[in-house]
Amino acid sequence: MIKNKSIAIAGGAGFIGTSLVEQLLPENNFLVIIDNFNDYYQGKKENLASVTKNYKNSKDFEIVKGNLIDKTILSNLDYDFDIIFNLAAQAGVRYSIENAAEVTKNNIVSALNILEYALNNDIKKVVYASSSSVYGNPIYTPCDEAHPKNPISPYAVSKLCGEIYADYYFREYKLPVTSLRFYTVYGPRGRPDMAIRKFFNLIFQNKEISIYGDGSQLRDFTYVSDLVNGLILAGEKAESSGEVFNLGCSNPISVNELINKMYEISRRPKKVKYIEKQRGDVDITYSNTNKAKELLNYIPKINIYDGLKKTYEWQIKHNSIQ
Ligand SMILES: NC(=O)c1ccc[n+]([C@@H]2O[C@H](COP(=O)([O-])OP(=O)(O)OC[C@H]3O[C@@H](n4cnc5c(N)ncnc54)[C@H](O)[C@@H]3O)[C@@H](O)[C@H]2O)c1
Repeated sequence: MIKNKSIAIAGGAGFIGTSLVEQLLPENNFLVIIDNFNDYYQGKKENLASVTKNYKNSKDFEIVKGNLIDKTILSNLDYDFDIIFNLAAQAGVRYSIENAAEVTKNNIVSALNILEYALNNDIKKVVYASSSSVYGNPIYTPCDEAHPKNPISPYAVSKLCGEIYADYYFREYKLPVTSLRFYTVYGPRGRPDMAIRKFFNLIFQNKEISIYGDGSQLRDFTYVSDLVNGLILAGEKAESSGEVFNLGCSNPISVNELINKMYEISRRPKKVKYIEKQRGDVDITYSNTNKAKELLNYIPKINIYDGLKKTYEWQIKHNSIQ
């Protein structure tokens, strides 16, 4: 566990960001949460407030509202960070197909500005959030990190560019940076545009769920606390610098199986329809996490059923129907 450190979390008001904040605050770390609170979805301020409520602003954390494509946001900060976690990105595969230029600029320039700032300020560690989407439709599974990169959306291309920049800064300047490829993350405060949050909301309202394609597509769903554990392990291990790791669960299930479990947990009548497959969606995500296991000691603990139950309970408690 990372303790007593000064840490910047770019994109810290987002789904994974707030979960990382929640894990790091009790360990006597000082956090600077940098986020532009973009309006891709609502509830970020409330999510962040819910994880910081027992801590003291200015002693335990600072919130900096700013867009990281403006490099003065970082250069105006007067902190000596031990670690920067870069989770800032415009997420959403489908959104990126409609808004390719915006997503490209946002994700790549913000990642570049963070690396440049880290280099100029001798930051000891940068951790970059990449994505399993860089692989595109796999040629073989489970995908190890050496699998060819064939991204099929502007979002996936932007994530891969961020990795290539990270690699360039490591090779050229020895900047200690690690890239992590996340696999469909879910859990409390999950993004409302993602399947699990969206489906539970529809189930609560007794509305029909629309499934893209025939529902046979496989996803390596990863519970957020496992993922955050991987982020922290990468952040604290010096040996992870210059490396790329898959952070998944290595246990994919089909969307049809997922939905059956969601109806089983919620005990509501099943209402499902199948619609056209969406551009940018891959047929399978399936991680080989041997490298993360060996070098980081990353071991996901939460199985899909337990993770869905925890997510369901959070959604019920927070009455988060959107
Ligand atoms: N959730 C997943 O399943 C998943 C899978 C693969 C990769 N990732 C990556 O993990 C990271 C976090 O994802 P998330 O699901 O928490 O998304 P999220 O949208 O909830 O969080 C991203 C945060 O970044 C902020 N942000 C975006 N652009 C910014 C900018 N230019 N300046 C400052 N802040 C900015 C947003 O306001 C948001 O709060 C992202 O980089 C995403 O690409 C997520």
